[in-house]
Amino acid sequence: MHLTNLSIATMVNGYGLIEKGAVLIEKGVIKSVGPDTPKGTTIDCGGRLLTPGLIDCHTHLVYGGNRAAEFEQRLNGATYADIATAGGGIMSTVRATRAASEAELLESALRRLESLLAEGVTTIEIKSGYGLDVETEVKMLKVARTLGTLRPVDVKTTFLGAHTFPHEFREDHEAYLKIVCDQALPRVAGEGLADAVDAFCEGIAFSVEETRTVFKAARAFNLPVKLHAEQLSNLGGAKMAARFKALSVDHIEYLDEEGVESISKSGTVAVLLPGAFYYLREKQAPPVAELRRHKVPVAIATDLNPGSSPVHSLLATMNMACVLFGLTPEEALLGVTANAARALGLKDRGTIAVGQKADLALWDVKRPGDLAYPLGFNPLAAVIRNGEIIKGTLP
Ligand code: NIG
Ligand code: FE
Repeated sequence: MHLTNLSIATMVNGYGLIEKGAVLIEKGVIKSVGPDTPKGTTIDCGGRLLTPGLIDCHTHLVYGGNRAAEFEQRLNGATYADIATAGGGIMSTVRATRAASEAELLESALRRLESLLAEGVTTIEIKSGYGLDVETEVKMLKVARTLGTLRPVDVKTTFLGAHTFPHEFREDHEAYLKIVCDQALPRVAGEGLADAVDAFCEGIAFSVEETRTVFKAARAFNLPVKLHAEQLSNLGGAKMAARFKALSVDHIEYLDEEGVESISKSGTVAVLLPGAFYYLREKQAPPVAELRRHKVPVAIATDLNPGSSPVHSLLATMNMACVLFGLTPEEALLGVTANAARALGLKDRGTIAVGQKADLALWDVKRPGDLAYPLGFNPLAAVIRNGEIIKGTLP
């Protein structure tokens, strides 16, 4: 397939824009990219914008139940932490997810996945973490894997058994840590159900020490780690995660300069989640200036989940990252392409370059800056995955 008359945001060094460019795809891989060299059969794309397929590198897409009532409670004065402490929050979704069948989880997750795919997503990360017992964690990860067989999308799974302490283990953290490290992890790793391991390091969840225990166990199975860190307070989780060469630290509104320095040294990606910031009406934005100063790669993701971020649009997330955190539209696009790939440890995607997987999105816009600009408008024209058109038509 030879596409011509494109504006190509290669995402190599920023936009890496090639005006009037062409891309040759062979066997699902990008064979050449550069200024127009029309020979042979070509497809004229009418000057449309081509980007890498979008990557949502942090979601909790698989879950049971609904938490709209908590949205109302928060707007009546309760905080996210109050609700969690009273047994709602994550635990409320845990109860609903435990009660749901695999088929029910699959059906509701498919619906949500469709929303993301409609905006050019070709790779998505999905976490467990609403089971908090071995069987339900396994059930969630299986559903996540199945999603990737039912729709044209690559699913990367993350084991998040350390999302919070289930109520039955509220007084005995050690016992739950044993379940996570000695029962769930060996099973999940043994069955090849997880590509990474995550934890929620926060006052209402796991301490830095407890998280370290989980990370040690993950590394023993050769699984890379990532962390929900410094979302509501600065515990130093990101700094500890850097010692494990974490793929990413996510949220990080309260990360201090020392923390930024350590993740800069470890090559860890900072994943910003403006959806959660928006829904929880947080006041403290992540340290964007420091991240820039220390040249930390920044990704952004929906954090799609029923509690803190019922956000089903990566384009809207890009816009929120610009408006709420002051990212430039270029940083926002890097955040859902090149840097999102990096946050998942994927080297074969996220840019348009020779040898990269041909996962591409074609947009009815002329400039890459147009993608983060509107809210609630979807200019997607077509999606190519592994070199095949899976959505829309090429002109
Ligand atoms: O990324 N911060 C922790 N976990 C999720 C929210 C989970 C929930 O509230 O259900 C997050 O925001
Ligand atoms: Fe999350």
